[in-house]
Amino acid sequence: MALRTILTDGDPALHKACRPVTNFDQRLHDLLDDLKETLANANGAGLAAPQVGILRRAVVVVDVEDNMLELVNPEIISQEGEQEGFEGCLSVPGRWGVVKRPLKVRVRAQDRDGNFFEAEGEEIVARCFCHEIEHLDGHLFTEHTDRLYTTEELDQMMEEQGE
Ligand code: NI
Repeated sequence: MALRTILTDGDPALHKACRPVTNFDQRLHDLLDDLKETLANANGAGLAAPQVGILRRAVVVVDVEDNMLELVNPEIISQEGEQEGFEGCLSVPGRWGVVKRPLKVRVRAQDRDGNFFEAEGEEIVARCFCHEIEHLDGHLFTEHTDRLYTTEELDQMMEEQGE
């Protein structure tokens, strides 16, 4: 396993559509292991292959139990409700925006050996599924918000809300 460099906004790899994974081989397993290690090291909620410069449809997402789910060729197959809240991205460091997402989503994906499975996420996990899957089509959360806040501004707003 190895840490990979997380690309930041402006890198062309973040704005391209990724190709489906067709080989469920050691190379894919290494990529998924590296995504998990890189995500844990960055203390993030999700990471997509294009964020480390690999234009393939693979993501890892942290679930409610703090497990890292590996999703290969993921697709959202149903969604319901709506939530609005702050969102950030490891490829847009230090910037946060208010983004509307479905409250609940169901995803169909393959595991590292190619077996299909379905996973469901609510609230922050639903947000994360949507965010990571969008990365595979070259989209960033910043496209869904008019205003970006700095970490300092976000902390200040959270503090004010808490008072
Ligand atoms: Ni992101």
